[in-house]
Amino acid sequence: MSKEAQQRMEKIVSLCKRRGFIFQSSEIYGGLNGFWDYGPMGVELKRNLKDFWWRRVVHEREDMVGMDGAIIMNRAVWKASGHEETFSDPMVDCKTCKARHRADQLPKKDGVPYCPACGGRDLTEPRAFNLMLKSYAGPLESDENLVYLRPETAQAMFVQFKNILETSRKKLPFGIAQIGKAFRNEINPRNYTFRSREFEQMEIEYFCRAEDGLALTDYWLEERLKFYEDIGIPRSKIKIHDIPDGERAFYSKKTYDLEYEFPFGVSELEGVAYRTDYDLSAHIKHSGKPLEYFDDEKKEKFVPHVVEPSAGVDRTALALICEAFDEEEVTDEKGNKEVRTILRFHPRMAPVKCGIFPLLKNKPVLVEKAKAIAASLRPHMMVFYDEAGAIGRRYRRQDEIGTPFCVTIDFDTIGENGPEKADTVTLRHRDSMEQERIPISELRARLEAAIF
Ligand code: GAP
Repeated sequence: MSKEAQQRMEKIVSLCKRRGFIFQSSEIYGGLNGFWDYGPMGVELKRNLKDFWWRRVVHEREDMVGMDGAIIMNRAVWKASGHEETFSDPMVDCKTCKARHRADQLPKKDGVPYCPACGGRDLTEPRAFNLMLKSYAGPLESDENLVYLRPETAQAMFVQFKNILETSRKKLPFGIAQIGKAFRNEINPRNYTFRSREFEQMEIEYFCRAEDGLALTDYWLEERLKFYEDIGIPRSKIKIHDIPDGERAFYSKKTYDLEYEFPFGVSELEGVAYRTDYDLSAHIKHSGKPLEYFDDEKKEKFVPHVVEPSAGVDRTALALICEAFDEEEVTDEKGNKEVRTILRFHPRMAPVKCGIFPLLKNKPVLVEKAKAIAASLRPHMMVFYDEAGAIGRRYRRQDEIGTPFCVTIDFDTIGENGPEKADTVTLRHRDSMEQERIPISELRARLEAAIF
């Protein structure tokens, strides 16, 4: 990573902590590597992202339904899917300092890999390290009670395929969507939240006839690019990596990785994979249960194929923050230059939609009016009431968390400067810093149009 990129990343991490987006998990006990907590702003950002994904892929479509599966499933699921046998990364130990690393991510000097912890070159041969986190369901820590925390949400959608097909009465092509936690015992969690041991996925399994699989993979690639555009990540910032033959999973006929240019490098946000009939066939074989689809019109029974767009909530949230982060030099009312830090979130992703300020906190009539406006908006959107400090400071605080709009209630609002200005407020726009006067009666509609 270049020095500039490193500095940018450090500023982002510091802002995220300072303004309540992301904290180290168990921080007061020294943290836990690979685990993160989202604070008041981070949780709103993630919620906006998940809600919008759900709206786009479930509510706005006739051919999709949702589900919410258990994190812990019968171990047989992971035997059938191949995870128990093969879900691993290559690991090496440093014989000098005993640190463990992913073999495929070791830095190299003159073409020779070395330990990033101590610089030693005396490394063990790579061996497979299974990434699934284990636990026990039941009072005995026995092999029979061994369970895994799911490493992906996808398998529940295959295992429940028949139940969902029968209860939803969908016809092919149709899909199932799920959002939920996944766990991987990553050897080296790194790049902030990018590679964590606990994270959330937003996954779709879109079932279809074999002959439609390839075209639907391209269709979903396009849908997903549109989605990123609609949350404020332009197409130009996403690199599409068409995984070549030989590098894809053996059962996949096509896989696109959607990669974003993070400060620490271009890295995967989402995969769109055509997985053929591999998963359903594996579960048919291992469970002995029929998971085939019967086409009423053609009187045909077959195992559907599947296209899987699989995205990470945490990675997308991090991409949103990286994309939104900006600094610009501005001149304040007194002519002093200062750096304005802004998160230029798309309004539909912004954690707080509108800051609401009385011009002065010691004028009860202004405070009362501002509080009344905040209360009237609260059922419809996340607002933040703030009466502390100069207005300029209050704007800056909202800029730092990416609030797209701020409203100031002043003496015009309460009619002190004539009836024509009464019941109007100043609406300030985050990006341009422009201000306009609008009637209170129009405020909600204006804000809702921007954040929907
Ligand atoms: N069902 C397919 C599947 O799980 P994947 O490429 O392993 O595919 C899908 O994961 C997405 O989940 C990734 O593109 C990424 O956004 C997210 N993801 C995977 N591992 C992650 C980790 N360790 N930390 C954060 N996000 C992760």
